[in-house]
Amino acid sequence: MTTLIAFESSADETSVAVVKDGKKVLSNAVATQINSHQRFGGIVPEVASRHHLEWITKTLDIALADANVTPGDLDGVAVTYGPGLVGSLLVGLMGAKTFAMAHDLPLIPVNHLAGHIAAANFNRPIEYPALALMVSGGHTELVLMEKENSFQILGETYDDAAGESYDKVGRLMKLNYPAGKAIDELAQKGQVTINFPQAMAHEAGYDFSFSGLKSAVINQVHNAEQRGEEIDQADLAASFQAAVIKALVDRTRRALTDFPVKSLVLAGGVAANSGLRLALTDLIEEFPETTFIPVPKQYTGDNAAMIGAAGYFNYKDKVFAGLDLNTHPGLDF
Ligand code: KG4
Ligand code: ZN
Repeated sequence: MTTLIAFESSADETSVAVVKDGKKVLSNAVATQINSHQRFGGIVPEVASRHHLEWITKTLDIALADANVTPGDLDGVAVTYGPGLVGSLLVGLMGAKTFAMAHDLPLIPVNHLAGHIAAANFNRPIEYPALALMVSGGHTELVLMEKENSFQILGETYDDAAGESYDKVGRLMKLNYPAGKAIDELAQKGQVTINFPQAMAHEAGYDFSFSGLKSAVINQVHNAEQRGEEIDQADLAASFQAAVIKALVDRTRRALTDFPVKSLVLAGGVAANSGLRLALTDLIEEFPETTFIPVPKQYTGDNAAMIGAAGYFNYKDKVFAGLDLNTHPGLDF
């Protein structure tokens, strides 16, 4: 039995969690600072770092108390070292290093993206080989995993990430940042009235592009304004969401066809999207050998429990770091 404490602070959530054997969440304390960033329409790095400093010890205390453990019950300290904002990452890293040093525990470096994917184990165990559709505010990737801790990027976005396109379209629609959830909810009330083109639809491979879609939405809204017409917001949301889902499903189908796998994982903040979860549930019927494992909704956004899940794989593989571990803001797989 392995119990890890995990620290996550790569963007605007300060989180500390305690996770057993990479799959049982004993606690997951998350302090969100979204209200402080909303009026700026995005994350302000300096503001984010200050919030992390304020919250890191509080979330640590809550995580230990909720899990009802003491440092003596723990086997290691997992921490996100990238990708993310350097000033934000540093706070979690310092917290984790201090805790590891004070209690003589090994420090386990964790890639934030591997964390998002590992959170699928809170649903059911990932079986390998597996394919992960990793969709967040900063990343959109199809990742092939031959085994635990092995990642091969099959495709990625050329420009905007899927979540980023939601947030940019949300700004146009005067919705609060981050707009993914609000657009998703609006979309469920609307009809697909505009057929937005899918970028790179006829190109081979598994890559994505979302900036053209964003421009198409902006043009549509501006043209309607010039004609003195108003586009129904719910219909606009439904049309935009349908185009995003079409692109994601299309490339995922292609990857599943070319690389037969046992599990399809859906991970990252956009994995909370109800339309996308439904569309992939339908898609998987075409692949009877593959099980669809979406990350449970409460773990799709940034949280430390997912870092504890990925940290467990590293612990088993003896991937440890010294106290000189640095941040890697641009880390990929
Ligand atoms: O993984 P995450 O919490 O942070 C990053 O690592 O980027 O992802 C945040 C992204 C934001 O762009 C947000 O708008 C999007 O996830 N998001 C959604 C939904 N909930 C959050 N996008 C579409 N539909 C949702 N329901
Ligand atoms: Zn994330």
